[in-house]
Amino acid sequence: MTNGYKKPNLKSLYFDDEVQKISSLQGKTIAITGTTTGIGFVAARTVANKGARALLLNRKSERSKSSYHQLKKENPGANIVNIECDLQSFDSVRKAALRVIDLCQDGLDSLCNNAGIMALKDEATVDGFDVQMQTNHLSHFLLTKEFLPLLKTAAELRGDARVVNHSSIARYGDKKLKAKYFDKRGGDLGGDGSNMILASLTRKGRWARYSQTKLANATFTACLHEKFQKAGLHNLKALVAHPGVAMSDLQTTTVNDGGMSAWLARQMMKNGQTMEDGALGIIKCMTDSDSQSGKFYGPGRGMMASKGKVVKFDLEKFYDNRLTKDLLWNKSCEAIGQEFVV
Ligand SMILES: NC(=O)c1ccc[n+]([C@@H]2O[C@H](COP(=O)([O-])OP(=O)(O)OC[C@H]3O[C@@H](n4cnc5c(N)ncnc54)[C@H](OP(=O)(O)O)[C@@H]3O)[C@@H](O)[C@H]2O)c1
Repeated sequence: MTNGYKKPNLKSLYFDDEVQKISSLQGKTIAITGTTTGIGFVAARTVANKGARALLLNRKSERSKSSYHQLKKENPGANIVNIECDLQSFDSVRKAALRVIDLCQDGLDSLCNNAGIMALKDEATVDGFDVQMQTNHLSHFLLTKEFLPLLKTAAELRGDARVVNHSSIARYGDKKLKAKYFDKRGGDLGGDGSNMILASLTRKGRWARYSQTKLANATFTACLHEKFQKAGLHNLKALVAHPGVAMSDLQTTTVNDGGMSAWLARQMMKNGQTMEDGALGIIKCMTDSDSQSGKFYGPGRGMMASKGKVVKFDLEKFYDNRLTKDLLWNKSCEAIGQEFVV
C-alpha cells in the first residue's frame, strides 16, 4: 500500500480457462515490452510457459532483475532473455533493437508493445519528448520499425507474424489526435493538473496527455494494418488490445506521482478486473491463430468496457481515418528522425 491506495482483492474469472486453450508456442520468439510487473509480466509468463522464447524488453532496475528471476524460477526450462530497453531513450531502444536483431536470425513472431505509464507529470525525456508519449508510443513505433525485417522473416518461415499494441479506454478522451503531443515539447504540454473531468473539458493536463498516447496506440495499429495490406504483406498482422480496468501497478504509480487520489483509484477498481483477466487481450492477439489484423481485442467497445471476456471489434472511425493516420505516421517519423517504410 502506498499513499493510502491498497489494491483490492479481485478474483480472475476467465484467465485459467482461456490459457488452457492456447496451443504450444514452441519454435516461436515473442518480444514484450514492460514485463517487470502487471499485464506484461502475466503475458511473458504465459507465452514462456507455452514454449515460446520470450524476449523481455525492460529498463534496468531491481524490479526488472527480480521479475526475470521469478519467471526463471517458476519455469527453469523456459527460454527467457532479459534485454535492457528504456523506452524513455531512443538511444537505449536502438541498442536493444541491435541485441534482438542479433538474437533473432530466424525471425521474430510477435512484438507486443505493452509497456506504459499513466498520467505522470509534464516532463521531458532525454530526447525532449513528453515522457508519456515517448514511453507509450514513440519508442514502440521505433522498435516496430527496427523489427520489421525480423517480423517478415518469421512470417515467411512460420506463416504469420504480429505487432500487438496496447491501448486503453482512455483513447476516448479527446477523440482527436493532436500534432503538438509528438513534438519536442516535453514539460510544456499542459502541466500537472490531475483532474480527469477538467482534462476532458480543457483538453489539458496529465490525463489529456495519457489519452493522446492511447489514441496513438490505436491509430498506429490502423496505420500498420493499412500499410501491411497495401504492401501485400498479408501474413503480417497489426492488432490492438485494451485490458479494461485491470489491477496492476499502473494505478499505484499514478497515485504516487500525484496523478490521482487513492480514493479515485479505489473507485475505479470497483469496476475493474485482475491483471490476469486484463492480460487476455494482448495474449489472444499474440497467440491465437484466428486473431485478425486490423481488429481491436478487449472487454468490449465504449467507456464502460472495464471488465469482461475478450471480444473482437472493429477499429473506430475517429482514428481510423486518412487525416489521423497521416498525422500519426508523419509526426512519429519526424520524432524518431527516420522514415519507416513498410
Ligand atoms: N491496468 C490498467 O487498468 C490498464 C488500462 C488500460 C491500459 N493499460 C495499458 O496496459 C499496459 C500495461 O500496463 P500495466 O497495467 O501492466 O502497468 P504496470 O503494472 O505499471 O506495468 C507497466 C510496465 O511498463 C514498464 N515501463 C514503464 N516505463 C518504462 C520505460 N521507460 N521503459 C521500459 N519499460 C517501462 C514498467 O517497468 P518499470 O518496472 O521499469 O517501471 C512495467 O513493466 C500499458 O500500456 C497501459 O497503458 C492498462
